[in-house]
Amino acid sequence: MTYSVAVSGASGYAGGEILRLLADHPDIEIRTVTAHSNAGDPLVAHQPHLRSLRHLELQPTTPEVLSGHDVVFLALPHGQSGQYTDALGDAGLVIDAGADHRLTSREDWDAFYGGDFHEPWTYGVPELIVGDAKQRDALRGATRIAAPGCNASTVSLSMAPGVAAGVIDAGDIVTVLAVGPSGAGKSLKSHLLGSEILGTANPYAVGGTHRHIPEIRQALRAAGAADPRISFTPVIVPMARGILATTSAPIAAGATDAEIRGAWEAAYGEETFVQLLPQGQMPRTADVLGANTALMGLAIDRAANRVVVVTAVDNLTKGTAGAAIQSMNLALGLPEGRALTVNGVAP
Ligand SMILES: NC(=O)c1ccc[n+]([C@@H]2O[C@H](COP(=O)([O-])OP(=O)(O)OC[C@H]3O[C@@H](n4cnc5c(N)ncnc54)[C@H](OP(=O)(O)O)[C@@H]3O)[C@@H](O)[C@H]2O)c1
Repeated sequence: MTYSVAVSGASGYAGGEILRLLADHPDIEIRTVTAHSNAGDPLVAHQPHLRSLRHLELQPTTPEVLSGHDVVFLALPHGQSGQYTDALGDAGLVIDAGADHRLTSREDWDAFYGGDFHEPWTYGVPELIVGDAKQRDALRGATRIAAPGCNASTVSLSMAPGVAAGVIDAGDIVTVLAVGPSGAGKSLKSHLLGSEILGTANPYAVGGTHRHIPEIRQALRAAGAADPRISFTPVIVPMARGILATTSAPIAAGATDAEIRGAWEAAYGEETFVQLLPQGQMPRTADVLGANTALMGLAIDRAANRVVVVTAVDNLTKGTAGAAIQSMNLALGLPEGRALTVNGVAP
């Protein structure tokens, strides 16, 4: 069976990456692409790298244009998806790359986003530990999926094994992330001009205000933490794509080195797209460019009494579009890794 697909936000970064991956998916026909201010333009006017899709024109994003497809991807600014999702009752599967359906708590939504609260959908991070299982069990057969925040899934995947195994104290997690500016989207923002970010590292949302904090806390509660606390500091660095998250937490009393490393090995040893590097090795963002891979290094700092996990992710691939398509594959009963690669682009 071939599934017809519509991708909204197709002129943006997340929509463009969804299309790049779907273009090589053998079970998918990309039928419709939509945008907002750029509707009416050829898709390749905004995504010139998508040569196999040069026949497509950007349509306006309306419920009428999006309806009638087997699968609809929404890659819109947060707060915009709800108006369409409510009208897409006939679509078998809708996947939202935005935040509108990620949070289960209305209080968290009001505190970090504001505006209308929409019902939570199945969270699109298959490898996340949830109780005694993984999130992929919930994704099989799902009809409404909320793809993750890129920083959020990177940090949640980094810490969930330690939380679930009880070898870290989730009450004192500290994470500092080097992030590329594509994480903030393609629309013009003066603080993301080349002249503002080249040759400098710029922290933002310091001090507990970043919108991905409640999403991480929600994921770590699902992994077994009673009251996870996270100090979260992103720093924009001059690389177009990529996240390097350095996350640490205190070692739980009595946990041995073997138990600590064993927790991450047990969680990810069988996974394709989340890989723990051998002891002593650390990942680079360059290793995961264009790959659906979260690559992790783990160190045990006994002097500081902390476990340190460094994780590299391509924010647009494993951080967004790859997670969305991996989740789509599970929802449709297709092989989970179809159209996704673990291999990055180098140098
Ligand atoms: N960038 C990432 O790394 C990343 C990671 C995880 C999740 N996400 C999420 O993915 C979503 C899209 O992010 P992005 O980075 O792709 O942003 P972007 O590059 O700014 O693209 C936004 C897209 O939405 C369209 N759009 C803007 N306002 C709209 C409206 N009112 N109605 C319909 N369409 C509208 C734009 O169309 P025009 O160009 O025609 O105006 C464009 O196609 C966001 O919710 C973001 O949080 C992004």
